[in-house]
Amino acid sequence: MLNQDTIEKNVVWLVVLTILVVSVAGLVEIVPLFFQKSTTEPVAGLKPYDPVRLAGRDIYIREGCYNCHSQMIRPFRAETERYGHYSVAGEFVYDHPFQWGSKRTGPDLARVGGRYSDEWHRTHLLNPRDVVPESIMPAYYWLDRPVVSDDIELKMKALRRVGVPYTDEEIKGAREQLAGKTELDVLVAYLQGMGTELKQAH
Ligand code: HEC
Repeated sequence: MLNQDTIEKNVVWLVVLTILVVSVAGLVEIVPLFFQKSTTEPVAGLKPYDPVRLAGRDIYIREGCYNCHSQMIRPFRAETERYGHYSVAGEFVYDHPFQWGSKRTGPDLARVGGRYSDEWHRTHLLNPRDVVPESIMPAYYWLDRPVVSDDIELKMKALRRVGVPYTDEEIKGAREQLAGKTELDVLVAYLQGMGTELKQAH
């Protein structure tokens, strides 16, 4: 008979049944999320990243900003008072991969869009100490150089494959939009767009 005693004394049964219990419980929690509108549909006003912000996002990822900054405001008073409305799933449907993170050496950036001027961000990124004297954030002084635009169309096509609704015209005009822009320009554009949809709605 397969009773508690046998299971606890037989490691094979214990492992097999534990895996079964954990997987069923996990699936029951996770699978419904794939079918819920609140987790799969964009919040009102959310648009796919335009080529400039998309290129900026790639620089954010390349430079490892996520190692110190999260992009997810939790639904707690201490967080919403500091950062604004808590993050909701519908804000991230065009993020592949999302940059939620959990490491907060620096502040959460989910709603940093519009909090500072472009000029503030440029100065801050090139040398944080120029605007925040006690800052321990690294200086990204090399960002003032032209952004590489050769691969932007391929990136947009790849994103379209995973569900981002870019049109052919948008993809065709993408390279032009990056012409003459620096890495700093596009990164600042990305930061300035962050979390602004929900901020406007509330
Ligand atoms: C070693 C950790 C670290 C890394 C890596 C880092 N930061 Fe920071 N960041 C900080 C800290 C600490 C602060 C708070 C002090 C300050 O404002 O400089 C900060 C502040 C900021 C702020 C101001 C946020 C606010 O609400 O005041 C922005 C914007 C920002 N960082 C963007 C970036 C970007 C973009 C990158 C990648 C290019 C980056 N950071 C990489 C640590 C980091």
